[in-house]
Amino acid sequence: MSRPVALITGPTSGIGAGFARRYARDGHDLVLVARDRARLDSLAAELHDEAGANVEVLVADLAEAADRGKVADRLSAGVQVLINNAGFGTSGEFWTSDFALLQSQLDVNVTAVMQLTHAALPAMLAAGRGTVINVASVAGLLPGRGSTYSASKAWVIAFSEGLANGLGGTGVGVHALCPGFVRTEFHERAGIDMEGTPSWFWLQVDDVVRETLADAAKGKVVIVPGLQYKAVVTGGRLVPRNLVRAMTKVVGRGRGRT
Ligand SMILES: NC(=O)c1ccc[n+]([C@@H]2O[C@H](COP(=O)([O-])OP(=O)(O)OC[C@H]3O[C@@H](n4cnc5c(N)ncnc54)[C@H](OP(=O)(O)O)[C@@H]3O)[C@@H](O)[C@H]2O)c1
Repeated sequence: MSRPVALITGPTSGIGAGFARRYARDGHDLVLVARDRARLDSLAAELHDEAGANVEVLVADLAEAADRGKVADRLSAGVQVLINNAGFGTSGEFWTSDFALLQSQLDVNVTAVMQLTHAALPAMLAAGRGTVINVASVAGLLPGRGSTYSASKAWVIAFSEGLANGLGGTGVGVHALCPGFVRTEFHERAGIDMEGTPSWFWLQVDDVVRETLADAAKGKVVIVPGLQYKAVVTGGRLVPRNLVRAMTKVVGRGRGRT
């Protein structure tokens, strides 16, 4: 019997690598999408050797339209699971940041999520089953110190919630994963100094993946892993938004990241 296929963007480190390992262990074949061929090949060999997964490597820069098109073509051929995980933050002020970098952030964090989901859904709907997990962030739920990054993640949440409603009863689930701080390469790549962040803020990749798949199986649409972040998000919904904004301005100093 053929194994279900999961296509994961950004599996060369962090949360995406965690999803890739978990889906391989759970009996899926994989399509791995990112820019770094050496790391993709190394993960593909590991997943094949340790979990018997057949792995396709698709080298693609999701900020580039032609590369997004290649990935969309693969999705149109049919997969059972799509994890839109690739994404990045940047540091510095919005008004002095390189505009090309901000545009590529929007292309990876938003356009790729929209285009790849659009490409994947027809085959999932024809099959009457499928799962799309879009990796957003707590930053998309609360007004914080970011601008373009937070806005991109708020878009992912609204997009996923709307689609999940529209797809009710089809057998296809769409979910927005909203993690808080997770120990990955994210902050180092973004140049964001996390020194002094209390240890209770940090989540581990394996816990995030485990909670996400358990919540997705229960049909939850917006998934917030970790009790500490569930409390933060619930608290943020209960107090007026201008008060949350004032608090995050004090805690986060309101500056220094897009
Ligand atoms: N870590 C956190 O605290 C945190 C919190 C909330 C949300 N998130 C979200 O979680 C997701 C995964 O991040 P992470 O924490 O696992 O970070 P990470 O360790 O830096 O991994 C990011 C992944 O995205 C890929 N990627 C980045 N730009 C790409 C591009 N232009 N084209 C294709 N792939 C690209 C990278 O692969 P290549 O470099 O090989 O292309 C890498 O595999 C992101 O969407 C992030 O916004 C993270």
